[in-house]
Amino acid sequence: MKRIFSGVQPSGDLHLGNYLGAIRRFVDLQADNDCIYCVVDLHAITVWQDPAELRQRTREVTAGYLAAGIDPKKSIIFNQSQVAAHAELAWVFNCVTRLGWLNRMTQFKDKAGKNREKASSGLYVYPNLMAADILVYKGTHVPVGEDQKQHLELTRDIAQKFNNDFGVEYFPIVEPLIQGAAPRVMSLRDGTKKMSSSDPSDAARINMTDDADAVAKKVRRATSDAELLPDPSVIGPDGQFTAEFRQSRPEAANLLTIFAALSGQTLADTVGAFEGKGFADFKKEMTDVAVAALGPMGAEMKRMVEDPSHVDSVLRDGAERARALADPILAEVYDIVGFLRP
Ligand code: TYM
Repeated sequence: MKRIFSGVQPSGDLHLGNYLGAIRRFVDLQADNDCIYCVVDLHAITVWQDPAELRQRTREVTAGYLAAGIDPKKSIIFNQSQVAAHAELAWVFNCVTRLGWLNRMTQFKDKAGKNREKASSGLYVYPNLMAADILVYKGTHVPVGEDQKQHLELTRDIAQKFNNDFGVEYFPIVEPLIQGAAPRVMSLRDGTKKMSSSDPSDAARINMTDDADAVAKKVRRATSDAELLPDPSVIGPDGQFTAEFRQSRPEAANLLTIFAALSGQTLADTVGAFEGKGFADFKKEMTDVAVAALGPMGAEMKRMVEDPSHVDSVLRDGAERARALADPILAEVYDIVGFLRP
């Protein structure tokens, strides 16, 4: 059996990118795997979070997991700060990772921006904590969106270096699972930018809790281009849009990809259905598809956050089960490293 681990930060509204790139796939993987899904609050504070909002968002992400269909009896759902072993293993990895490796991380460069001196040191060692999240359970497979690929390569390097340094075959070399219909959902305002909770414009993303009116408005205002929708010749042999099409018409490629992913159709079926039509017709149908897919989930999330007793008990129970798995692994790592525990 594979051991699946993944996480989502409670640092902004959950959006369609989180859902299609990650959370929806978490649900599918539960069927025949051992799954651990974390709300990574330690990662969230690498940039400033208002404490009351952080608590609220932690519940919101948990509610998103549950509303999407993750079963807390089968899978473990918990928030990271409740399991101390994550931070403890991260310290060991701070001493394994080389500065040169961290200096190559593009997410740090993006998030720190021009004023790097002002970024927190937590933001810099963020990938070490992410490696610890996964490896403290000896996770083998990690479902994520495409933006996390470089971090998972670093996780593999850390595991390999730890094993080499100590002459053990201890940590598995994790496999990223970057698949599904939409591993990279782009902004509704600019098809060359990732859909992100840190985008200052809320119109750039569809949030999981947006109501039908908000979805309709955002889809209507989504940037498109002046051409008609394409014919299926823009789909490559892998069933995805050709790189040429994505480059020349990024917004059309993004909207059609989202439509196909939400409706459960193949890209070829979606493109076939709208061939030669204008964006106005397409956007009406896209609104219907998005509202049908997200509406019930958003309502369920709001209900669970309003009365958080269920969410809180899921997190309490999940943390207990997570600690039972992580603590013995951390103890073995401490032995390997040579920490005396008389
Ligand atoms: P985060 O919180 O930014 O995003 C959560 C998940 O959503 C995916 N995602 C997207 N997928 C497709 N299109 C998009 N526009 C989009 N935006 C976000 C992300 O790829 C991610 O899978 N570092 C991680 C959290 C993390 C983690 C881990 C993940 C911490 N520890 C261990 C896996 C394993 C992050 O910031 O994700």
